[in-house]
Parts: sequence; C-alpha cells; structure tokens
Amino acid sequence: MIKISLLMVFLFFVMLSVALLYVTFVPEYVADLEGPEGYDLSYEDEKHRYRSFSSNGEEIYYTGINESGDLIDTSGDAHWIYMYGGGCVNCHGTDGRGGVPIMMGNIMSPDIRYSTLSSGEHHMNHVPYDEETLKIAITEGIDSEGIPLDMNMPRWEMTDKDLDNLIGYLKDL
Ligand code: HEC
Repeated sequence: MIKISLLMVFLFFVMLSVALLYVTFVPEYVADLEGPEGYDLSYEDEKHRYRSFSSNGEEIYYTGINESGDLIDTSGDAHWIYMYGGGCVNCHGTDGRGGVPIMMGNIMSPDIRYSTLSSGEHHMNHVPYDEETLKIAITEGIDSEGIPLDMNMPRWEMTDKDLDNLIGYLKDL
C-alpha cells in the first residue's frame, strides 16, 4: 500500500515537471495567422516580440508597427484594428493573396501582391496600379480608378520611407 502511494507521489512529480518544462519551453506564439475574427492581442504582442523580420516592409505587413517600434495610425471602419492593432497580414494573408473573410465573412480581402495589382488582374477593377496609385490606395483608400475602397480597408498614415519599404515587400510576395 505504501509502495503504491509512493509511486503515485513520484508519478505526480514527474507529470508536474513535464508540465512545467512544457510551459517554459514550448512557445504558444507559433504563428497560425487568422483573420480579424478570432483575433487576439496577446498573440500579436508575442509575435511581435519573438518573431524577427527580415525587413521594415515585412514588419509593417505583419504587425502594423515599423522597425522603430512606431504603431502606424489608421482610420477607416475596421474597428478591431483600433482595438487590437495588426498589419496587412490579418486581412490579406501571409502570401498577400487575400481571401481572408472579414466582418463575419461579409467581405473578402483582395490579392495585393504588386505583381497582381500592376497587371490589372486584381479584383476591384482593371486599371493596373503603379507605385503612385498604390500609395494612394494604402494611405487614402482610393483605388486605381479613383473609387473609394470599402471602409474595412484601413487608411494607413505612413511615412514615405515606411510606404516605400512596404511596397518593396508587396513586390517580393
Ligand atoms: C481590416 C482588414 C484589412 C487590413 C488590416 C488591410 N486591408 Fe487592405 N483591404 C481590405 C479590404 C476589405 C479591401 C477591399 C476593399 C473593397 O472591396 O473596396 C482591401 C483592399 C486593399 C487594396 C486595394 C486592392 C484592389 O484590388 O484595388 C490594397 C492595395 C490594400 N488593401 C492594401 C493593404 C495594405 C498594404 C495593408 C497593410 C498596410 C492593408 N491593405 C491592410 C482589408 C484590409
């Protein structure tokens, strides 16, 4: 009987140490990016802290924060972004091809790879974007035909350098 209880106590400590090791060493932030539904700030914080980005453009794309740590201001009607922050990835996806349902799936985000936008194959209209019209789309929310984009696409108040870096990243996608 005593042997069995000792064994139980021993097993209990083994399990406890395994649990502690797991909590300490297995990161919970392994990025499994989701759209705004199910979006979670602590997640984004962790990601920003632990993920290293290869360029300023990539960092902005993923976090909405530039390499100096400045949060890029947005306006528009994407309420969750005011509350939780985040970058283009949350709506346009890790590969920039869009297709992430936003606002309970009422609206789909488009493909924003530069190759698609500049070919006139993008979904909104068929006027090919160039760097200038793309900058206007990102900062003012006006598309290549001069038509305002849906308010769920935030308007990003970026410095010229951040904007150039971000567009450079869209070209790499
Ligand atoms: C909250 C979701 C959301 C975020 C975050 C977001 N977008 Fe968008 N974006 C959209 C939606 C939705 C549209 C489509 C708007 C429409 O249908 O009028 C769009 C459209 C666009 C377009 C126009 C595409 C076209 O075919 O004309 C560009 C360019 C764009 N987004 C770039 C960006 C960039 C760059 C970022 C990050 C700095 C970003 N977006 C972040 C939701 C988002």
